[in-house]
Amino acid sequence: MQPYELIKAKRDGGKLDPSDIQAFIQAYTAGTVADYQMAAMCMAIFFKGLDSRELGAWARAMLHSGEVLDLSDTPAIKVDKHSTGGVGDKVSLSLAPLAAACGVPVPMISGRGLGHTGGTLDKLESIPGFNVNLSTADYRRLVREVGCCLIGQTAQVAPADKKLYALRDVTATVDCIPLIASSIMSKKLAEGIDALVLDVKVGSGAFMKTVDDARVLARTMIGLGAEMNRKVVALLTDMDQPLGRQVGNALEVREAVDMLRGEAPDDYTEITYALTAEMLVLGKKAATVEEARGMLRRSVEDGSAIKKLKEIVQSQGGDPRSIDDYSLLPTAKATADVVAPRDGFVTGIHTEGVGLAAVALGAGRQRVDSKIDPAVGFTLLKKVGDTVKQGEPLVQVHYNDAGPVEGVKARLLAAYQFGDRAPAARPLVLERLE
Ligand code: URA
Repeated sequence: MQPYELIKAKRDGGKLDPSDIQAFIQAYTAGTVADYQMAAMCMAIFFKGLDSRELGAWARAMLHSGEVLDLSDTPAIKVDKHSTGGVGDKVSLSLAPLAAACGVPVPMISGRGLGHTGGTLDKLESIPGFNVNLSTADYRRLVREVGCCLIGQTAQVAPADKKLYALRDVTATVDCIPLIASSIMSKKLAEGIDALVLDVKVGSGAFMKTVDDARVLARTMIGLGAEMNRKVVALLTDMDQPLGRQVGNALEVREAVDMLRGEAPDDYTEITYALTAEMLVLGKKAATVEEARGMLRRSVEDGSAIKKLKEIVQSQGGDPRSIDDYSLLPTAKATADVVAPRDGFVTGIHTEGVGLAAVALGAGRQRVDSKIDPAVGFTLLKKVGDTVKQGEPLVQVHYNDAGPVEGVKARLLAAYQFGDRAPAARPLVLERLE
């Protein structure tokens, strides 16, 4: 296998042999194919694509670049959920305890923020003491004993994706369907699951901007799951405005806890219920999504979902008191308001712009090695369809460092669109595929 020959073949639209793909990814993981060669290959794939044979080989090579975890000591059907990424997407934080409280074990390997999107690991780490870097032995034990464990990617699990994810983030090769599909499916199948629910986000805050692209991505991942004997259900969900009202790590943890108390915004609650209900059906704890929704509502009402969250937090070294007392979570020193420039309706929110504003404020990373500030972020006081009066607050900015605040406020204002009429309501779940 000559890396140069393979890159050139793909650049010119040729088909790669599965054994060459396997050798190329193995060499990249071992460090003998350089980052610049893999970056060139990703760009060639971005333009020329992978056919289904090549994609299967690419995903399998990534899956087997490390350990494929065996969770057979937890006998129940283990189900995870993965989102393709969005802004204000704190679904995993409430979905995992909800599913576990209803008896479905959730082994979850999550990511950090990527581009303008937030990451579950960064949100979890805003809970004092919460450790996402557990050994695979602890991961296996907690899935068995607690019913859920949320960790980051390790050097053992899908290491090819760990390297590739960071490389793609800085080489403009993230928004490429075969690369996204193989990235997600390799790490999800390595974590020891039996079935998977995918939340494929669509809209201005998603990597997939159109329903057509999102559908192709969903079908690609469902196909990879089928090749590897895993049942996969995908929901295409709206990301044309941030989910819920909070954007920023500790702020999103608060909103997730509010959800488990039945006190969160409707859009966030609805998407969480829709996805978790699919998990309960895949995990054979409910026969239909309607029955599953009833179980989820009861776990909120009887307090078992929040109890499960505290158990998860405690089992991973976090302070469970922070779930009852938000003053124990990181809190920004100051706030500033972005105000409406006119009367009317909010007709749209350019969601990628909100995500990039959050990164500029310090809630996300500008560079791979940037340190994030868990306390900072936004509370969206107005969302699409709301009426506004000139001078009324649209967004509350929570900050510690005043330096970027004026620029962030300008970005947020630029992200909001106004009109004289309320826009037509958009469904939250656009399609279901399996
Ligand atoms: N999420 C992933 O895990 N991988 C991608 O490539 C994009 C989103």
